[in-house]
Amino acid sequence: MAAQGDNRDKGGGSIRADAGDPRAAIDAPTPDCTTAPLDFLFGEHLRQRQFAKVLTLIADGVINRKTIADAISFIKTDLALHILDEELSFFPGLRASCEADDKIDEILEILAKEHREDETGSEVLIEILQRMTAGAAPSEDERALLRDFSDRLRHHLALENGVLLPIARTRMNAETLRAVGESMAARRASGSR
Ligand SMILES: [Fe+2]
Ligand SMILES: [Fe+2]
Repeated sequence: MAAQGDNRDKGGGSIRADAGDPRAAIDAPTPDCTTAPLDFLFGEHLRQRQFAKVLTLIADGVINRKTIADAISFIKTDLALHILDEELSFFPGLRASCEADDKIDEILEILAKEHREDETGSEVLIEILQRMTAGAAPSEDERALLRDFSDRLRHHLALENGVLLPIARTRMNAETLRAVGESMAARRASGSR
């Protein structure tokens, strides 16, 4: 499993992501998002860090086509769903729970702007990765774009983990957390994106 991804990759040797399960580089999602929604979102952030690592390995040319296809799937499904979870379920619950001094609107505005940039960047990213799965070698500019997307995603995750989730754990009560969790669960049950 790729929870050990960073350690796995430090040695610069074989890439376990290329052996066996195409999902091997990124952990499976936690099935239950209702019991502890903030822990669930944190778990998704860990998976996104694994994805960011995979992107840099793809840019380095050490990931096979099967795993590149898996990265495309992650962008289209997991990443897209996570943005909906945050903007339609988590952010509204957090906003309603905060006080003016938390300046939560300013933080959420930055994060929403980065989500829009991610969505735009994802389209270009998918085009590059799809060409790679067809056997094309990425140009230097394309490799740079993969690394840039990875860097920006890690920066976004640091802001959410370091600032947003700590505020949420302080401000959101059990009732609000339950509503956020149920909202995310309903999204999965309906298959809506
Ligand atoms: Fe997030
Ligand atoms: Fe986010």
